[in-house]
Amino acid sequence: MSHPHRIAPSLLACDFAHLADEIRSVEEAGADWLHLDVMDGHFVPNLTFGPSITQAIKRCASRPLDVHLMITDPWQYADAFLDAGADVLTFHVEVEDGGDAAALLDRIRERGAKAGLSLQPDTPVERLAPYLDRLDLVLVMSVFAGFGGQQFMAEVLPKVGELRDRGYRGEISMDGGIGPATIGRSAAAGTNVFVAGTAIFGAEDRKHRITELRERAAAGA
Ligand code: DX5
Ligand code: ZN
Repeated sequence: MSHPHRIAPSLLACDFAHLADEIRSVEEAGADWLHLDVMDGHFVPNLTFGPSITQAIKRCASRPLDVHLMITDPWQYADAFLDAGADVLTFHVEVEDGGDAAALLDRIRERGAKAGLSLQPDTPVERLAPYLDRLDLVLVMSVFAGFGGQQFMAEVLPKVGELRDRGYRGEISMDGGIGPATIGRSAAAGTNVFVAGTAIFGAEDRKHRITELRERAAAGA
């Protein structure tokens, strides 16, 4: 059950005019995964990018792509993101009424990727109960999905322990407001994947920042 700590810079906070350079920069700085935020302007009130940009990122990346779908219809687009090179593909449990979520998780795994479900801050862990044995990753949102640079919501921390209490043994990711001041508490709760946009891309020295994040996660404080 013990998974390695992974630091996953969110490209949402990068300079998209220099995507290849930004990817190289965080990979050289020690990133473990690259986190890609896909927004459809419907599930969340913001738009980002789709499979073609994901494919372009794949061409210059040497780390796994952790694709976070904040979209209403993952059934329509999952295969396109898998074709584009997603290594981890996560969608939101709040859209479960739009199709067969269990079948989609199975499909993602059959295609060789890790399957993930995410929870908004106000969605209880209970909603994941029917899917726990089909999941490689749970993405616990520590801000409301849609925008970078928001403040960390500490009230979501107990969800991590609750997942373990329910017998979930896969990876647990936390996304939103993660930085030097918050990563320790997240790690202490049992999170192993730490998504950080502003804290990494906004840092003057990204290598120093990722090292600092890793140390604080290890210290759990
Ligand atoms: C928000 C996205 C996050 C976002 C995090 O909807 O899912 O991945 O980029 O940004 P920071 O780290 O700035 O809170
Ligand atoms: Zn995200």
